[in-house]
Amino acid sequence: MNRPWPPVDYGHTGIDAAFTRGDVYAVSPDPVRVGKRPLRIAIASAGGVAQAKWIPAIRRLQTMGEPVAVAAVADPRGDVAAKAAMLAGAEAYADAATMLDAARPDLLLVLTADAAHVPVAEVAIDRGIPCLIEKPLAPDFGAAAALVRRAKDKGVLLAAVANKRFSPPYALAKALVAEGRLKTEPTVFTGKFTLGYPYVDLLAGGTVHLLDLMLWFMGPVARVHARGIMRDGGIESAVAAIGFASGAIGTIMTSAAGLSFKPWERVEIFGRNAFLVVEDQWQTTLYDDETGPAKSWAPVLPNTLMFDEAFGGYSGLLDNVLDAVRGLAPLGAPAVDGANAVGLIEAIRRSIAEDREVDVASEGLVA
Ligand SMILES: NC(=O)c1ccc[n+]([C@@H]2O[C@H](COP(=O)([O-])OP(=O)(O)OC[C@H]3O[C@@H](n4cnc5c(N)ncnc54)[C@H](O)[C@@H]3O)[C@@H](O)[C@H]2O)c1
Repeated sequence: MNRPWPPVDYGHTGIDAAFTRGDVYAVSPDPVRVGKRPLRIAIASAGGVAQAKWIPAIRRLQTMGEPVAVAAVADPRGDVAAKAAMLAGAEAYADAATMLDAARPDLLLVLTADAAHVPVAEVAIDRGIPCLIEKPLAPDFGAAAALVRRAKDKGVLLAAVANKRFSPPYALAKALVAEGRLKTEPTVFTGKFTLGYPYVDLLAGGTVHLLDLMLWFMGPVARVHARGIMRDGGIESAVAAIGFASGAIGTIMTSAAGLSFKPWERVEIFGRNAFLVVEDQWQTTLYDDETGPAKSWAPVLPNTLMFDEAFGGYSGLLDNVLDAVRGLAPLGAPAVDGANAVGLIEAIRRSIAEDREVDVASEGLVA
């Protein structure tokens, strides 16, 4: 309860290192990190998120001294595979199975188009290779739960891309809740998430991030009642009333009718006579004193030092998964959480289509 404000520990975000005076680029090797067991990563997909987020995140960790290397990249699009392999200093392959047999990596990043997440992860699980899988974990809850079971049966580590958990403003909010700064367990959650991309499914491609955060902050969902606006055969906007297993309540508003160059989000969590707000994955403010000031945290870093690979949570998540592969840390985002986010998407879709409340557990949507 007596932590200094702003707090000094941002967990696995890597962003604290950037605050060190005199090392503004955070390139000084950390002796603890440098001494860790070296690991080799393979990447399935050389697409947008591989090139723009994950390869830079790996590079960021390498710059901080992390002993990790990219051994291979696989993508059926030969020119794209060759480019990403060149960026990562790795071998290019046309398919994941051939790559895994040749490279035998310590970890596979499954960053493919959604439809290939499950088949590619299965190929790795059957070879005993740990995976970090992009969201959504699977196209439907049944496939997601089956993938989690398959990995469990084979004793293979499986992590979900829930990168926002590792973004500093959310990591801080989570620490504040865990420290009891809301004066009780969370009672109410409200979340908003908007984007404007016409080419991704709103819930599976975007809102899944907000649903994961909600589950992370609030615990399992018991009931969902949603309403939506349909457009071109898909959900353009949705609102949902949520009842959590804990007895807490919440609301979700999400829309694809926002701006494509300005995805926007906001999370509010209430305790009792105290609440906090995370504004647009940027600023975390705690209101916990009737007479004293609000406590607000936002990064002081100038734009030139804003590494999206760190602030988006990618390098922090990967840092955690690498330590989990080494047996040094528990997974911060196990695949079962990714499966439950997919279950929630299914509950929202079902509720909108049938205009009724969905009981998540009794309808078999929890792993
Ligand atoms: N975490 C985030 O914030 C975030 C952001 C963007 C995208 N994503 C997710 O990342 C994934 C990829 O998105 P993207 O924007 O890079 O898409 P993209 O279309 O740019 O790339 C997808 C790539 O996957 C390749 N591919 C398809 N099947 C494959 C297979 N069997 N083996 C190897 N490669 C295969 C395709 O050839 C293509 O190059 C999606 O699941 C998306 O939801 C997550």
